Amino acid sequence: MLVCSCFAVSDRTLRSVIASGAYDADEIGARCDAGTGCGGCLEEIDELLDEAMPRRRRPVARSA
Ligand code: FES
Repeated sequence: MLVCSCFAVSDRTLRSVIASGAYDADEIGARCDAGTGCGGCLEEIDELLDEAMPRRRRPVARSA
């Protein structure tokens, strides 16, 4: 399923990026660009991070 339409990044790619060590939206953006465009996918990225790391602290949302 496509999560970030700005950069055509799927949930599968995002899960892989998270599994390889990306721990927040900034780190995910640095690795695959997801979330660095319009920002419309940041909530979904945050949910994927929560899914992978349920005990992490929620980051402060950044503006687009
Ligand atoms: S949909 Fe991901 S940055 Fe726009």
